[in-house]
Amino acid sequence: MSFNVAIDGPAGAGKSTIAKAVARQLEMIYVDTGAMYRAMALYMLREKVPLQDVEGIVRKCQYADITLRYEDGVQVVLLNGENVNGYIRTEEVGNAASVVSPICEVREKMKRLQQALAAENDCVMDGRDIGTCVLPDARLKIYLTASSRVRARRRYLELEARGERGDLARIQADIEERDYRDMHRENSPLRQAEDAVLVDTSDMTIEEAVETILRLCRQRM
Ligand code: DC
Repeated sequence: MSFNVAIDGPAGAGKSTIAKAVARQLEMIYVDTGAMYRAMALYMLREKVPLQDVEGIVRKCQYADITLRYEDGVQVVLLNGENVNGYIRTEEVGNAASVVSPICEVREKMKRLQQALAAENDCVMDGRDIGTCVLPDARLKIYLTASSRVRARRRYLELEARGERGDLARIQADIEERDYRDMHRENSPLRQAEDAVLVDTSDMTIEEAVETILRLCRQRM
């Protein structure tokens, strides 16, 4: 049986950076499930399916073949055979992903793929519903969070580093709105699994969070 670590939590808690570092240390693959939803969103944008057209999205999603491949430990997302890593990190695709990801048929399709990957490989998988829905039997479940204030500040500094200006209060309000949507949607809402360990990174460095999770992994190996 493979050793799987599930990491869930809200946007901006540091999930992907931390999950990637944990996976590297443990020589496991890192499965970024958000990237899969982003690839699905990219497909809908390219096919010009209006995002309010749920039926259209349900109909079209069966034609989007999304798979993951690993090249030198780096996850490559393939959309109908094309490497789309370079197209999925934009605001537009992120926003579209938050519209397509609550749709039941989309989630079912992604869940099957995620479960197959986890059955075949030891992996660290991050997302919103990994511990609660996708891998209910994961050996370790982490709920990674940080206060909305801290997450907003991190995002603000990221923008600043790219030479862009942000409005801290606005960013925090957006984060809180997105949390509310993620936690109150009908399908697979974001919540801490009962058997998940809560890791609050508000006052931690990345290294401290990685160390905390590695310690928990080693206890369960
Ligand atoms: O983590 P991210 O920003 O790359 O995620 C993109 C979108 O996909 C975001 O709106 C949340 C959603 N998502 C989800 O619903 N379930 C997951 N397991 C991962 C991401």
